[in-house]
Amino acid sequence: MTARIIDGKAVAAVVLDKVRLASAAFKDKTGRPPGLAVVLVGEDPASQVYVRNKGREAEAAGFRSEQHTLPVSVSEAEVLALVGKLNADPGIDGILVQLPLPKGIDTERVLLAIDPAKDVDGFHPINVGLLNAGAADKALVPCTPAGSMILLESVTGSSLAGKHAVVVGRSNIVGKPVAQLLLQRDATVTIAHSKTANLAEICRTADVLVAAVGRPEMIRGSWVKPGAVVIDVGVNRIPAPERGEGKTRLVGDVATAEAMDVASAITPVPGGVGPMTIALLMANTVTAASLREG
Ligand code: GUN
Repeated sequence: MTARIIDGKAVAAVVLDKVRLASAAFKDKTGRPPGLAVVLVGEDPASQVYVRNKGREAEAAGFRSEQHTLPVSVSEAEVLALVGKLNADPGIDGILVQLPLPKGIDTERVLLAIDPAKDVDGFHPINVGLLNAGAADKALVPCTPAGSMILLESVTGSSLAGKHAVVVGRSNIVGKPVAQLLLQRDATVTIAHSKTANLAEICRTADVLVAAVGRPEMIRGSWVKPGAVVIDVGVNRIPAPERGEGKTRLVGDVATAEAMDVASAITPVPGGVGPMTIALLMANTVTAASLREG
């Protein structure tokens, strides 16, 4: 079998088209565009790229887009003060604080300070709690898990009843929320991780395999059940000497070429889950704006 490649860019483009329409409709109704503020602390190069892309996409969606860059030496109190200012700004509907934050700043305290109604990352305990209580329709849901589910549903349809989903990874950003979303689609869900015994065997029982463990190409083709749908959330930069000295390339958590011989469908890296994350951030911003004005 050669797996179907799930085109994240194409699916993201459909989501973004809907966002643009919703953004224009919101502006017609309220007289202002949805507003998204992104906060970056420090100069982590990967974070700078992500934040730049988010700003670009927000502008393309017709949003008011703000980027706040703070030096790595900033105090936690100053970050909290900025979050407070954005909470109070009626023209800002979404606040995203790019993670990871520098050492010395308590991430939990910062995330807790964001108004849950503006928490477009879905990381505030109120939104986490709503999702875990089965009330995802009332919550802002984390972008990467929500985007992964749309890609999965583009293959399976919305019901996963009778299917075994294995999530490899237990992060708050991806593993735990995606497991909740799978459960809500009636999948039987196993959360595995880097310390799970017999990980390969457990993966081989997965009809749906979500890889979010953050280890380059850890999941081999021989771990994939024939016909499984594989969602690869990993983004790992590895050396690529074949491309020249000092060059690198992006790979997922799955050995894609191997898995393609076994799976029925798989997301590529890059071009799979990545574009969906940004698209869902824009979708969450329009949702937050509509809920706030509703
Ligand atoms: N860093 C890596 N992924 C994310 C994300 O989804 N949201 C935020 N805020 N930071 C991140």
